[in-house]
Amino acid sequence: MNAVIVGAYWGDEGKGKIVDLLASQADWVVRFNGGDNAGHTIVANGKQVILHILPAGVIQGKNVAIGPDMFFNPKTFFADYDAVVKAGFRIIGKILIDERAHVIMPYHIALDAGGEASGKLGTTKRGIGPVAKDKASRTEDITVHDLVSGDFKEKIKAVVAAKVNELLQHKVVERAADLNRYAEEIYSEYSRYAAKLRSYVGSCTYTFNEELKNGKSLLLEGAQATLLDVVHGTRPYVTSSNCTAGGAAANLGIDLRKFKIIAIVKAYPTRVGEGHFPTELGNYEETKKERKGEMLTATEKKKAIDGDLKLLGKWIRQDGGEFGATTGRPRRTGFPDFVALRYSGMINSVDEWVITKIDVLSGKPFRAAVAYEKDGRKTTRFPFKLEGWKPVYGKKEYFWRQMSESEETAAVKKGYDALPEGMKEYIRDLVTAIGIPVSMVSIGPQREKTVIKDVLKRTREYLK
Ligand code: GDP
Ligand code: IMO
Ligand code: MG
Repeated sequence: MNAVIVGAYWGDEGKGKIVDLLASQADWVVRFNGGDNAGHTIVANGKQVILHILPAGVIQGKNVAIGPDMFFNPKTFFADYDAVVKAGFRIIGKILIDERAHVIMPYHIALDAGGEASGKLGTTKRGIGPVAKDKASRTEDITVHDLVSGDFKEKIKAVVAAKVNELLQHKVVERAADLNRYAEEIYSEYSRYAAKLRSYVGSCTYTFNEELKNGKSLLLEGAQATLLDVVHGTRPYVTSSNCTAGGAAANLGIDLRKFKIIAIVKAYPTRVGEGHFPTELGNYEETKKERKGEMLTATEKKKAIDGDLKLLGKWIRQDGGEFGATTGRPRRTGFPDFVALRYSGMINSVDEWVITKIDVLSGKPFRAAVAYEKDGRKTTRFPFKLEGWKPVYGKKEYFWRQMSESEETAAVKKGYDALPEGMKEYIRDLVTAIGIPVSMVSIGPQREKTVIKDVLKRTREYLK
């Protein structure tokens, strides 16, 4: 099976978990967008690994690749590699890094952290905006090809010299006279990375067109998600890459018709960073102050059940462990949003949804947005500018009680029918609202906590 995996909301849907699970059926797992702004968590063999740039397939010992449209931070690559080994997994597959990928340099990170975007957009400060800007400039960019080629030193010197004003303005260097030394320092660090990376560098496009012809299977791992896409997302509060399924084909130069398109939909949306979030519970200024482990008291839980939405949002955040895998920031939480999901389903031409983290909603009453409203006007479309649009919730309140460990194990074994009735009601409404079936339901972070049996069959029946 060839498949492309994308996120349906604003990221952190559990792409890492699902890619790791599906990797057993793939020959290659390929990241196709973004950089180390991503944080993909895998829980397997009792160990947790968070990967930022290495594709999740590395855990299952698969061949992995970093695509041509990616932003590549060599330091993170080695840190990810070490984290995998330290957790006891063996890296036995091939590693391919596309020569066309762009290298994240220290000044990109400094400019991102010190620039306007970090505050206004709430970026991950990984240098993504600045490296994307250089890529678009075509004059100040440094590719993986440049990094491993003989004239890397001249290239870095020329780029740093061209950036003199920007580097002085943001105090990346104190004086113009320091520029040469700054370039030398970067060269000295990055040429060491280059020496270690050289044997991994090649062309994803040729490799994968050939592999597909030879009947090999590819799993394409998206990072970020549809609503953070640089074109289709909630601009300007987006990342700087194409995060959609179509983006995967364009970025890798391969035939998307050979791929199944799977979107990961978290049972409730989350968002980390600034930007509109129609179904948000509570408000971001307060959420920002919250710390991991601030569990709710029994009285607070009762209040949340009785309708205190701020507390309900906090409860979901704490139970779901919604703290950034890359930055540790608290993630904003919200009610399910069928308007956003219909939009995501359309943009990605989704074949199947995978629902994740549905266990987190157990014991919590919730509703789902079915439309938006502004000044008495109603829409079921996802507006480009979300200012002022408020969610219109469906009449139904969903609720089921928490499953016990043995009920969860039984559900994994028996399949879809063994899931709680309230949960299935929510899944049915989601499926019929969007018109796309579900193939898996994830009920825990561990690889094995996934219900697959009869899920596609039953959810297809909803659409008849
Ligand atoms: P990604 O960026 O889409 O790969 O997602 P992240 O790894 O950033 O965030 C997802 C978090 O949820 C991680 O901590 C996962 O271990 C965890 N997770 C994934 N699936 C499930 C699930 O079904 N239930 C629960 N409770 N946690 C999950
Ligand atoms: P994964 O792959 C969630 C968000 C940032 C910020 C905006 C722009 O783990 O789902 P950037 O550093 O890309 O310039 O930041 O995008 N963002 C993510 N949010 N998950 C991610 O990746 C994200 N990658 C970037 O928080 O709002
Ligand atoms: Mg993440």
